[in-house]
Amino acid sequence: MDWAALQDAARAASAHAYVPYSKYPVGAAALTEDGRIVTGANVENASYGLTLCAECSLVSALHMSGGGRLMAFSCVDGAGNILMPCGRCRQLLHEFRAPGMQLMTISGIKTMDEVLPDAFGPENLG
Ligand code: THU
Repeated sequence: MDWAALQDAARAASAHAYVPYSKYPVGAAALTEDGRIVTGANVENASYGLTLCAECSLVSALHMSGGGRLMAFSCVDGAGNILMPCGRCRQLLHEFRAPGMQLMTISGIKTMDEVLPDAFGPENLG
């Protein structure tokens, strides 16, 4: 896995963030099972709580570009520092994880199961 390339893609995505309120751009990038790199950036809203995280944008891009499953994920701030996806976004990513999906985190590479243990998921709904 080329984590540096994924981090670069996330940093490039952060340039497309819409962050007039927080001034805190976030970029996310993931490698799909079929070899695509999908990206996203945060899109804020005057009604602050409606802000879309970079991961929201990424999973939308995933679905709109052919769907599939995520194998590896990285998320950075505008300066390129690794960020931990927020709790809600871990759940969003979990929905589209490939078996064994890995995330670059502030404490190294971790699996989806490690960052969201005992997750609720599609299998719970039968
Ligand atoms: N943000 C993300 O895009 N992803 C996260 O996982 C954490 C937070 C964004 C939301 C908001 O636009 C800004 O970071 C500050 O919270």
